[in-house]
Amino acid sequence: VETALRRGSSSSHFLLRPFSSGSLPDRKVAILGAAGGIGQPLSLLLKLNPLVSSLSLYDIAGTPGVAADVSHINTRAEVAGYAGEDQLGKALEGSDVVIIPAGVPRKPGMTRDDLFNINAGIVKSLATAIAKYCPNALVNMISNPVNSTVPIAAEVFKKAGTYDEKKLFGVTTLDVLRAKTFYAAKAKVPVEEVNVPVVGGHAGITILPLFSQATPASNSLSHEDIKALTKRTQDGGTEVVEAKAGKGSATLSMAYAGAIFAEACLKGLNGVPDIIECSFVQSNITELPFFASKVRLGKNGVEEVLGLGPLSDFEKQGLESLKSELKSSIEKGIKFANEN
Ligand code: NAI
Repeated sequence: VETALRRGSSSSHFLLRPFSSGSLPDRKVAILGAAGGIGQPLSLLLKLNPLVSSLSLYDIAGTPGVAADVSHINTRAEVAGYAGEDQLGKALEGSDVVIIPAGVPRKPGMTRDDLFNINAGIVKSLATAIAKYCPNALVNMISNPVNSTVPIAAEVFKKAGTYDEKKLFGVTTLDVLRAKTFYAAKAKVPVEEVNVPVVGGHAGITILPLFSQATPASNSLSHEDIKALTKRTQDGGTEVVEAKAGKGSATLSMAYAGAIFAEACLKGLNGVPDIIECSFVQSNITELPFFASKVRLGKNGVEEVLGLGPLSDFEKQGLESLKSELKSSIEKGIKFANEN
């Protein structure tokens, strides 16, 4: 088990049980928006994670119930619920990782950018509190539009003098899970063995899965198949929004994705080598200031932003066509943070 816990991560190795937490360092994880559709199952998954010693559940309301509920599970993490802004400081203090699924989700017909007006303000106020109460925490941003909320948080941290580009992450793990799942089904390979990098951003065409780098490689997929897989990955969120027909967007798969990414951050902090996940981070691998790509995680957060690797012509085209949308979403976030 110990070997398993220390082994390099990839998104398929989660929930390694049974466990002994004897030699693991104390780690506090805070979830902001913990009473929501994502927040609740994410709280459950982190309560199951032996790397977490303290689980802090914050929302504007409802968290005492969620906290009481998951606290009865007989695992390591001690759980506390905090509700309302006057308890936000206590919820955050001492956090190693802060996960943010706070804010409204999409309804059918909405784009992620339609959420901007509400979520931008929520993210700004939560980032302000993080800068004050736990400036060294790794921040995992789930709230959409991620392409704008990550730049908003960066600006807030810059103004507060706490910005460390190694510690701010847009969570794009769900795009990776979708790419893996859809690819495995189409290529008829075992899903648990599949890896597919997904780069760019987290909305529509800015989501760029690199199926040319997928492993295990498949010779059976035509160009049309790759195009269809790409589109399905880009529209994966919308597929769920439509199926839920007005009752929100992905919550269960997102909670799983959020738990995978938080676990990778914790393993990095704990010094486990070779932890690599895709994430939307400050980047200079393209001309855009933020970009999702493979990232090596370590004791200080981002250890290395990995390059894109060889792209097919189709992916090169996808990369060029996503840049203007991603650029304007980033700029919209920066502008909002500086004007409000
Ligand atoms: P939800 O509406 O079920 O839950 C959101 C929670 O945030 C609610 O409990 C609400 O009380 C809370 N909240 C609102 N303002 C807050 C504040 N100021 N402080 C703390 N909590 C606050 O929504 P759901 O489905 O959980 O989605 C949350 C966010 O995650 C949405 O923005 C959604 O678009 C995004 N999302 C991101 C994905 C990704 O891949 N990054 C995938 C799916 C959703």
